[in-house]
Amino acid sequence: MRNVTIDNVTDVVIESLGRHQEIPARQREIMESLIRHLHGFCKDVRLTHGEFLQACDYLGRAGAICSDKRQEFILLGDILGVEVLVDMLTNPIQGEETISTVLGPFFRENAPVMPKGATTVRKNFEGQETVFVEGYVRDVEGAPIAGAIIDIWEDAPNGLYENHDHDQPDYNLRGRFETDANGHYALRAIRPVPYPIPSDETAGELIRYMGHHSMRPGHLHMMVTRDGYRSLISQIYDSSSPHLDDDSVFAVKEALIGEFRKAPEGADTDLTLRFDFILPRAEAKRMAAE
Ligand SMILES: [Fe+2]
Repeated sequence: MRNVTIDNVTDVVIESLGRHQEIPARQREIMESLIRHLHGFCKDVRLTHGEFLQACDYLGRAGAICSDKRQEFILLGDILGVEVLVDMLTNPIQGEETISTVLGPFFRENAPVMPKGATTVRKNFEGQETVFVEGYVRDVEGAPIAGAIIDIWEDAPNGLYENHDHDQPDYNLRGRFETDANGHYALRAIRPVPYPIPSDETAGELIRYMGHHSMRPGHLHMMVTRDGYRSLISQIYDSSSPHLDDDSVFAVKEALIGEFRKAPEGADTDLTLRFDFILPRAEAKRMAAE
């Protein structure tokens, strides 16, 4: 094609797919749609060459600040509502199972495996509120799931996750806990506080460009896994937290809002939180993929 025009450029690029090398059907599907939407977007807004160069510079800077401790592109996907959309597409609600929500950029693998009831607090902050968290993990018929792993992570009272804060000990406020024979789990942690997602770099530029704010409501991140069951990535939100209705990453779900209650007299934490999880059986096809 020697005469590419505004009218034919999209088809010309799509026709090039697989021209010199066979590509898998899924790859073709992704690229064809991406090209159509990307070209459509450029036409919609009449994107200028200057704006195109600005976008290239922006993406370059976003990539440059990624490291093993910072994943800027997940943040960008969160701010645009892409991660929550992809999560809903990947994990459609089928019945009574606990609803999932975004993983976010702060998860770290290999959190310490801890005994039932232990605390994830490795550094104390003034004004922190400790919480005893417990509940059951069950299947959709209500049978207990023993040996499920609850991987939990949260921000400190200064609003920072430990991997973004040099002053917190490694794996502070992170831990993995196993359910007992009754499917029961228990741990000690602190009440999570609302925090701004990192907005010092390109994520902040995007938030400001959108005229949005960067705040998230207080939440505990949880990942619940057990062989034979669908893995759950979710968050529990503090019912009394601000920003439940204007979360900067659009990840709040009504069913994930929990009550942090005042602990009974004599308890060794300030608060208690009860939250149960329901995991459906994994489908064979999905298990193979995982
Ligand atoms: Fe978070």
